[in-house]
Amino acid sequence: MESLTPDPNTFRLTPLIQSALKRRTSKKCQENGKPNETDPFVSDKAHQEEEEDLLIQFKRYFCSATKIPDKLMEKLVEKCRENSEFAEELSTDVFNSEIVTSHNIRYQFQTNVIKKFLAALEKDDVPVPDSMFDRLGVLLGLKDGKFVEKLYLDEKGDKVVAKFSESVNQLSMGTTGLSVWQASCDLANLFRLIPSNQFSRVIELGSGCGVSGIAIAKMKNCGVVLTDYDENVLNLLKENAEKNELIGDGEENSKVRCLDWCSFDLTEWKEPADLVIAADVVYDSALLSSLCNVLRLLLRHSKAAIVACTLRNEGSISCFEHHLKFSNLEVVEKFEYEYGEYRLETTENSDGFYAHPSHFPFFSTIQTPTIFFNVQAKK
Ligand SMILES: C[S@@+](CC[C@H](N)C(=O)[O-])C[C@H]1O[C@@H](n2cnc3c(N)ncnc32)[C@H](O)[C@@H]1O
Repeated sequence: MESLTPDPNTFRLTPLIQSALKRRTSKKCQENGKPNETDPFVSDKAHQEEEEDLLIQFKRYFCSATKIPDKLMEKLVEKCRENSEFAEELSTDVFNSEIVTSHNIRYQFQTNVIKKFLAALEKDDVPVPDSMFDRLGVLLGLKDGKFVEKLYLDEKGDKVVAKFSESVNQLSMGTTGLSVWQASCDLANLFRLIPSNQFSRVIELGSGCGVSGIAIAKMKNCGVVLTDYDENVLNLLKENAEKNELIGDGEENSKVRCLDWCSFDLTEWKEPADLVIAADVVYDSALLSSLCNVLRLLLRHSKAAIVACTLRNEGSISCFEHHLKFSNLEVVEKFEYEYGEYRLETTENSDGFYAHPSHFPFFSTIQTPTIFFNVQAKK
């Protein structure tokens, strides 16, 4: 198997992030290790300096059915109070928008958000647009099925860049792969900063619903090989790849393939890719030796593997690092993303904090960073 675009230069994420983002010091993060009690998901600084308007930020959370940060909710209610036309805009551009009404974004979530708005607006005697009540009426008559949709929007927030079906339960049919996990959202967000000339085809391991691989293929107009081993997950993965028009017409550069880490044979593998990606695949220590073996084999032909891990258990992360070393692989970069900021290595001129609020929002009751590993074959 040949690599697609052999690159004599070593692939590094840090300079790409640094050149894409202005350095921003998050004092709160440094002082408290945590930015804001009421809105712990995006730091104050990241919120303030993000030029994106409130409505677009809100739309991103709403379309991806992600819990709306309290701070954002407060700011939106405040804006409605100052200007009643804003409530109208919110109702038309978000709750009743074509994007929202033509997809099955979790109805229970939409209902709860609209109810929360109505309560806040009525409390302050702010006139509530009829269309908000009308939408609530429609939603109250709808019942969520077993699968719901998440939509992620483009840079301007007016088009869907990628959409996914996922199970309403994080664990269903005996697998974790039917729902979207934090690391896949953060990995997709990271790739907003990676120029498309750095790769032409990626392979994703343990794709699950396929958020990272599919979003990267859509944003960067590149090919993707989405892989998993569970039959139900592979079916959902195919459905999501089709939904995003990556497969279906027979001519495509993207594929969905079964790849079991425990029985991978490189000689049988016919899908070249110049980058390997994986999100939230480091959770079961018993699988790490097989996973690292697959990385070792694929890295004979690919220049780097970018693995995004949610830090749930320090033990699994160090076990992963141990297996990488044992597989003769090198971690050339390792950094965290949390509260909408990357924490890169501190240098003489930089404290290492780079704000990059996510276009792939994710909510978890357990607050923990995503750790990115850039893994390469030892030279
Ligand atoms: C926690 S989920 C993460 C899914 C997705 N990457 C995400 O972050 O949303 C772990 C994924 O690894 C897959 N997986 C587990 N063991 C595997 C194996 N032996 N071979 C291939 N995939 C495996 C599961 O089917 C599941 O889709």
